[in-house]
Amino acid sequence: MTQTDDSSLASRAVAPGRFITFEGIDGAGKSSVIAWFAERLRAHGLDAVSTREPGGVPFAEALRQMMLHDAMRPETETLLAFAARAEHLAQKIEPALAAGRWVLCDRFTDSTFAYQGAGRGVDWATLESLERFVHPQRQPDRTYLFDLPPEEAARRRAAVRAADRFEAQDVAFFQRVRDGYLRRRQAAPDRIRLIDAGADPEAVRRQLADDLRSLGIR
Ligand SMILES: Nc1ncnc2c1ncn2[C@@H]1O[C@H](COP(=O)(O)OP(=O)(O)OP(=O)(O)O)[C@@H](O)[C@H]1O
Ligand SMILES: [Mg+2]
Repeated sequence: MTQTDDSSLASRAVAPGRFITFEGIDGAGKSSVIAWFAERLRAHGLDAVSTREPGGVPFAEALRQMMLHDAMRPETETLLAFAARAEHLAQKIEPALAAGRWVLCDRFTDSTFAYQGAGRGVDWATLESLERFVHPQRQPDRTYLFDLPPEEAARRRAAVRAADRFEAQDVAFFQRVRDGYLRRRQAAPDRIRLIDAGADPEAVRRQLADDLRSLGIR
């Protein structure tokens, strides 16, 4: 092996991975495209790991079950979300990124602002301070915000499954959540890319593929 090969291998080994998150109201179509997205990265020789929030590691999955099924105050919901996230980051996300893997996460902190903040009324500044507390140095490299009218999302959900504590909320709740996401996007327009999730599945994938080109993935 030549000297040049050695150094290019070494630099590839330490290049950090990218952190990509998928956001949007329940039924927007996030989970439906993540496997496709991971395959697309793998086709480029990239190592991709898919995970989700709340959850991703056993400790956080246990908190997810409580969040989705047990009655609790919005403040409690918020703290559980960040507690789950702290362990998810430490046990899974940060080690994967350090190893050069791309991490695809179904929901992350923007969800907490949208659901617990805009949806449930938890103070925005409190959420910002928890965000700084739990991941001061980390933001997603890219966030895809799957945007569509709550009525359409409700139609999609009704076709496939029984509702959890969030999915059982009314259209007005999901309209607030949608607006919360758009508020987050206004503060970080470079990171958060809007996806027209009302489009058919192929058109949704095309929007993602177009953006991937800007990340150097053809
Ligand atoms: N672009 C699309 N057009 C029509 N139906 C879609 C589209 N994308 C997904 N669906 C369907 O809508 C339903 C919800 O999709 P999916 O579970 O991916 O949403 P989600 O955003 O992951 O929701 P949740 O946040 O509740 O997990 C599924 O039945 C899926 O097949
Ligand atoms: Mg999903």
